[in-house]
Amino acid sequence: MTRSFRIAPSILSADFARLGEEVRAVEAAGADLIHFDVMDNHYVPNLTIGPMVCEAIRPHVKLPIDVHLMVRPVDRLAIDFAKAGASLITFHPEASDHVDRTLQLIRDNGCKAGLVLNPATPLHHLDHVMDRLDLVLLMSVNPGYGGQSFIEATLAKLRSVRARIDAHVAAGGNPIWLEVDGGIKVDNIARVAEAGADTFVAGSAVFGAPDPDRGYRGVMGRLREALASAGLPG
Ligand code: DX5
Ligand code: ZN
Repeated sequence: MTRSFRIAPSILSADFARLGEEVRAVEAAGADLIHFDVMDNHYVPNLTIGPMVCEAIRPHVKLPIDVHLMVRPVDRLAIDFAKAGASLITFHPEASDHVDRTLQLIRDNGCKAGLVLNPATPLHHLDHVMDRLDLVLLMSVNPGYGGQSFIEATLAKLRSVRARIDAHVAAGGNPIWLEVDGGIKVDNIARVAEAGADTFVAGSAVFGAPDPDRGYRGVMGRLREALASAGLPG
């Protein structure tokens, strides 16, 4: 099956003092989405950026902004991010008391909606909401920090979610992106694609190690070459 691949640089690893310049640079380097990590120091042990920063970078790029909410509660901030220019909003089911309502709320505010599953979060959270999902985000590290190592058990989980999505689409359901987040590098992205992902968050791989000659364009090119080597056209 032909799948199109999307690469979503996470600005968690960008230079926050030059954020406008950084997002313009990854857009010019061929990014498909800007991944925006929101941490609240309650749901995860770190504190990052909120809707005002989303609003500030919005005019700098045409790319969709992919907001990953690691916050509790979810609903109020989801609305604020929709107003601040987000295109996609994902949240962790453990962080919302009413997952179905939160998914509807995100779509009602004009954004694509998704659930994020931590490495130890079971897949049954997807059972009754497939029709409400535009994407599923599988964490391949425990959320909270950039630069962690990819958890290999994610590959089996990806295969299971890919099978669920394919069955859902075969039964006439809406397409659902399968995104993976954490520890994605040039040397593992092909295996992650083979396991079923179509959208790849890459924080430290893009912002942490720009190509000495070609900058972010060089890193993005190597990620795409690795994807092409997986033999899955994208
Ligand atoms: C972790 C964040 C990730 C993170 C990925 O909680 O959700 O998006 O920035 O960073 P890398 O690619 O460095 O693992
Ligand atoms: Zn993220």
